[in-house]
Amino acid sequence: MIGRTAEPIPVARVRGLAAMQIPATPADDGSAWPVRSLHLNEGPYAPAPSVLAAIARAAGVLNRYPDHDASALIAALARHTGTDAARLVVGAGSNELLHFSAEISLEPGDEALVPVPGFPTYARAIAQRGGRCVGVPVRPDGVVDIDAMMAAVGARTRLIFVASPHNPTGGMLSQGEISTLIDRLPNHILLHFDEAYYEFGRHAGASEVLPLLERRGGPWITTRSFSKAYSLAGARVGYGITGSAALADAYRKVRVGFGINALALAAAQAALAEKSHVTALLDHTAAERQRLSGALELLGMRVLPSAANFVAAITPGLAGDLAGVLARKRIFVLPAAWPGAGGMLRITIGTRADTGAVVAALREAIGAP
Ligand SMILES: Cc1ncc(COP(=O)(O)O)c(C=O)c1O
Repeated sequence: MIGRTAEPIPVARVRGLAAMQIPATPADDGSAWPVRSLHLNEGPYAPAPSVLAAIARAAGVLNRYPDHDASALIAALARHTGTDAARLVVGAGSNELLHFSAEISLEPGDEALVPVPGFPTYARAIAQRGGRCVGVPVRPDGVVDIDAMMAAVGARTRLIFVASPHNPTGGMLSQGEISTLIDRLPNHILLHFDEAYYEFGRHAGASEVLPLLERRGGPWITTRSFSKAYSLAGARVGYGITGSAALADAYRKVRVGFGINALALAAAQAALAEKSHVTALLDHTAAERQRLSGALELLGMRVLPSAANFVAAITPGLAGDLAGVLARKRIFVLPAAWPGAGGMLRITIGTRADTGAVVAALREAIGAP
């Protein structure tokens, strides 16, 4: 009789999940219509030669397992961030660390707060642990609404995700707003501050969040990514700075053995040492973001202020339809819902040629002169 009353497999928590839909970007076949991948906020250029050389060296010893503790990368990150190595954690993309935050903080039925629209991993990570995701709309300017998030804190809230610059809007919190968050968030709630676009935010004039986070008595982590400013989206590496070594231990406990592969570790370490690639990319992104925003505004679209490597343009018609028209020209952008409008298009900053192509295609699609 054992097992007759047991829940069927997979358990209800997993049965209720939708499979992730992330269609592969078509390969560029060198035809007259190049593939323009402007929907995933990747860097438009290949990693620096020094990074490619480090990957090639690491490839020569792929018969060996990688360093599970990522000691060399952690040591480099400790120097880079000025943080004690014991408080640093790494993940297969900062994405994995978002999942770990849900893993270490939520029991089934607990609540977690997320900005809406926001990065989809937040809601997935919460759902996978049986948590209840409470969405809090961002402000009309696309910035996370700290007052509204604080008002949404309830008796079962255990986790909050906040991003600055925020995805999909690019909106950046002020120092005062971050201070309010840190001062008002109760100490039994895990604060996950998502800085996947940290380097772009700093380049756009954001002040450091870390000194403010250090003031917090309760648990916190801020995560950053090698996928964006370091042009390593395919490698899958991210890192987190936590409020204490004890909290960092919790993230280490839920890791998968050898979860970050040797090529990714070597690439991230080399990328951290290669400052000129990042500087050039940040300068390029800021200039091209301004050019793209100006051109979209000339087409009559409202563009949200962005401090990231993408812009969000509010669309007059249905954003999904516009994205479909662009996709037929092999220009891929991300449509999303936006209250009171047809939607919005999130467009990654690509090359100069990408900017020209996406603006020309949109002009034609919306019939602008
Ligand atoms: C806000 C935000 N957080 C986290 C991530 C995850 O990035 P990765 O896992 O590549 O580090 C992304 C990726 O697009 C993002 O936009």
